[in-house]
Amino acid sequence: MREVKKALSFILTLEFWRMGIFWTLSLAMSYFQLFWQRVCTKKPNAYPRCPPRRIGTKKPICVITGATSGIGAAAAYDLSKEGFSCCSWYSILPPVQKLVAETHIVYAVGRSSQLLSKMIEWIHKQNKDARVEAFEVDLSSFQSILKFKDSLEKWLLDSDMHVSIQLLINNAGMLAASHRLTEEGYDHPVGSRIVNVTSFTHRNLFNVQIDKETVAGKYLPRSKQYPFSHIYEFSKLCLLMFSYELHRQFHWPDESCKVSVIAADPGAVETNIMRELPSCVSHMAFIALKLLGLLQSPEEGASSVIDAALAPPEISGVYFFGGKGRTLNSSALSRNIRLAEKLWRSSDDLFLESKLICDRTYTDTLHELKD
Ligand SMILES: NC(=O)c1ccc[n+]([C@@H]2O[C@H](COP(=O)([O-])OP(=O)(O)OC[C@H]3O[C@@H](n4cnc5c(N)ncnc54)[C@H](OP(=O)(O)O)[C@@H]3O)[C@@H](O)[C@H]2O)c1
Repeated sequence: MREVKKALSFILTLEFWRMGIFWTLSLAMSYFQLFWQRVCTKKPNAYPRCPPRRIGTKKPICVITGATSGIGAAAAYDLSKEGFSCCSWYSILPPVQKLVAETHIVYAVGRSSQLLSKMIEWIHKQNKDARVEAFEVDLSSFQSILKFKDSLEKWLLDSDMHVSIQLLINNAGMLAASHRLTEEGYDHPVGSRIVNVTSFTHRNLFNVQIDKETVAGKYLPRSKQYPFSHIYEFSKLCLLMFSYELHRQFHWPDESCKVSVIAADPGAVETNIMRELPSCVSHMAFIALKLLGLLQSPEEGASSVIDAALAPPEISGVYFFGGKGRTLNSSALSRNIRLAEKLWRSSDDLFLESKLICDRTYTDTLHELKD
């Protein structure tokens, strides 16, 4: 009864209707763009998948965040078996066992060690030779990220691996139903490709204010209800702008840079993404999307992420949507260079502030231990 009451009061909020109507429209709009591309141009914007490459004698490696469920878990599984299907240079290696040994290694990052072990068990059940390691990290904690960076570097050195990451998939994300205080988040990618998992919901924003306050999520709520759909759309828009800006910083004016940055949008996928909403609401949403033919399984949703991860090395600064290697134009706002520069500066300030706090906490702890 309490659950039904909660669901009813949720359905009566503006946020629910914003999510239900506008997100469906922006998803339909993305598929319409794909359709229009096919009708108008004989050649769709699609890229083939390329096998992962070795660095000298070292195996190429990939880090994927949020791999304990949904799209991240499906992508980790797909990448772990990618060695089988990769032809070109892998095809010179004879038996399957050898292929697996030579395949790139996937590092899965999640918050719960229990869920991570479950995920690895699941991957090993389907692909017993898969090379998957698990690291426990809370990406909302700056300290946890720095700790992860250190343990990953140490692990790579101890295991005689190359100390750079060839593929980083920033997939972790959630649809938070309420405001919470978190420690600041930060990613420090090293390597040749960064894939940021974004969403069609960014299309719902036509005008945004970007400064340190809005980027940090410190806003003053005008209504009692947490604007969860707006915050989600904003975070995905920021991730897209960040992807394009990072691409520009790497590639302009010098185009010889070997690091590529790609945004991938899985579309609507049946995962735990709505875990914080009343369960009957998320069930209803999935049923409605299924009836409209817009809902995909995690395996289908992961395909645009894998397309982005394995696109030809020179591909950068693009937005993958719809699988089959297809790309689209994201919204005009997401491609606004001035806003992206503002976002970069604000994030940079926040990063430096967080680092300062972290360093201070570390020094204080050292002093306390000495005393
Ligand atoms: N599902 C969709 O329809 C859809 C559509 C477009 C884009 N996306 C995007 O796809 C990505 C994956 O979502 P999903 O649908 O697969 O949802 P999901 O099943 O809920 O998976 C989210 C993953 O992110 C992890 N995560 C969340 N916050 C984290 C944190 N602070 N630190 C570390 N890990 C954290 C979760 O770990 P825990 O298990 O520890 O919570 C979980 O592994 C998200 O970025 C989402 O925005 C999803």
